[in-house]
Formats: sequence, C-alpha cells, structure tokens
Amino acid sequence: MTHFTSVHSIKDLDALVNQALEIKKDLFADEALGKRKTLGLIFLNPSLRTRMSSQKAGMNLGMQVQVINAGTDAWTWEFEDGGVMNKSTSEHVKEAAKVLSQYCDVIGLRAFPGLIDRNYDYSEHVLNSFIRHAEVPVISLESATRHPLQSLADLITIKENWPHKRAPKVVLTWAPHSKALPQCVPNSFAEWMNAAPVEFAIANPEGYDLAPEFVGSAKVYHNQKEALQEADFVYVKNWSSFETYGAMPCVKDDWLLKKDFVESNPQTQFMHCLPVRRNLEMSDALLDSENSLVYKQAYNRTVAMQTVLKSILERTL
Ligand code: CP
Repeated sequence: MTHFTSVHSIKDLDALVNQALEIKKDLFADEALGKRKTLGLIFLNPSLRTRMSSQKAGMNLGMQVQVINAGTDAWTWEFEDGGVMNKSTSEHVKEAAKVLSQYCDVIGLRAFPGLIDRNYDYSEHVLNSFIRHAEVPVISLESATRHPLQSLADLITIKENWPHKRAPKVVLTWAPHSKALPQCVPNSFAEWMNAAPVEFAIANPEGYDLAPEFVGSAKVYHNQKEALQEADFVYVKNWSSFETYGAMPCVKDDWLLKKDFVESNPQTQFMHCLPVRRNLEMSDALLDSENSLVYKQAYNRTVAMQTVLKSILERTL
C-alpha cells in the first residue's frame, strides 16, 4: 500500500510536478476516477487551506469526501500500546484507524507535534501509529515534522513562476513570531528543495538551525542580508528551535523583511504557506507586493492534493 508522507514517497519528483501542471490545465478531466470512492479527512488540529483544498481536490476527482475534526468532534485517541486506558483518552488509534478504513478508500490525517519531546515528535509516532493500523492509503495533511502537500504546492509554484533556464536561487528565511511554531513547514520545504533543481540556502538566527537531515546540502547563513543577496525566491517562515526543542531563543537582529527590501530587490518573489501574522512574521510590503506568490501557493494546494490523490487512485505513486 502506498502512503504519501514526504518527498521520499515520490518515485520521480520532476515527473510528478509535470503531472501536476497537466492536471492544473483541467481540474475536472478525471472527475470519473474517484466515483464511488470516499476520501476521509481527519484533523487533530485546525486548518483552513489544507481542509478546503483537500476537499476540493477529492470532489474534483468525483470522490465523496467526509471530514472530521477528530481533536474536538471524535473520541480522544490513545497512541501508546499496551497501557491501561484509565486517563483522558477514550479510543485507541488501532480501533480508530481500522474503523475509518471501513468507511474510506483514502485517508488524510493532520497531526501536529507537541513540541515537548523531540524524540517522540521526530519519530512521527502519531502518524506512523495511524499508518500501521490503517488498511487504506494515508496522506499526511501535516505531521509532526513535515508538510508534504504544502511543499509540493510550493515546488509547483516555483516552477510556474520561473521561466529561465538557469536554476533559481531559493532562500528559506526564518522570521519573527510571538508563539513557538513547529518546524514542519521549513523542514519539509528544505527536504523538497534539496531534491529539486534549485540553488537552495537557509537563513536563520543562531539557535534556530533545522535538524541536519532536513538541512541536507543547503548552505546555512546566520546573516539574513548575506543569504538573501540575489535571491529569486524568498520563502518566509517562523519556526521554533530544534536544538532547544520548542523554545524561542532571543534574537537580537531585526529579521522582519520590509519595504526597503522589496524596493531594492525587484526580481525577488515572496512566498509563505499561510496563515501569516501580518507585520510580525511578514510585512504588508511583502504580502501585498506584486511579487507575492502566497495566493498562487494557496491555489496550488488543490493541485498538489489532486495530483497525489490521482496517483494513489491510479496506483502510480
Ligand atoms: N498552509 C496550511 O497548511 O494552512 P492550514 O493550516 O490553514 O491548512
């Protein structure tokens, strides 16, 4: 059985992106493919884009789509094996995944990290437990360490907005925030960019280096200005510390990109997965710039999910 949980789920990345661009030309071309098939979307955490775009992708393929906010609407799940369930959890993931498999042909699951126990989060215990007990293909709708559908949408967006032959310079830059956020989006973006035909670098303050397995061959800068020189795409995102897991070490320099950066870099296109806190993580000047790709990224979330779903239904993933 094939699951979609990371870039490693893909046999041929270039072929998948090209397939996505073909699918985008006519989103209803395969509306008979999913007839009488059910897509279940299970959210343990909130969502706007992933929820709506995944529903839309399933419906475009003719699937029935059922959505549940399992964090609030369903019984609380237990993920540990062999224990006595005498605390707050009411249903073991073993039953939940097997029962959902009776109703669904494909299941999407969103399960954020707790940001408390790094080993637990980075072992992907929740997603892997669900997959172990599921009897149908599972698609990650964002897990403890990755957000692969977002990364596929980001890669599609970069390809569409880069008409040149040379590889674009893509820089992932850390940005400020008032809340500790997971490393899923930057981890995943780094993993996909390292597998894509781009020149990739990461800019983050000291104390915010991503896990080495996600940094891969990317050059890491602790000086944002130096990293962003001649960048073609700048991906803005906050994340909490991997090293001091889930913490937000003090940052002295100003990492919020503003109007002066937009004006002095007219060739640079700006990206963010959204949601974004305006003027805290990303300034109005970038978000409202003509060079902002954030809504194109959001549109491509449907294309990404539809591409993955089609591959799963056709058993070509
Ligand atoms: N980018 C993204 O995954 O958005 P949601 O959390 O709203 O789904």
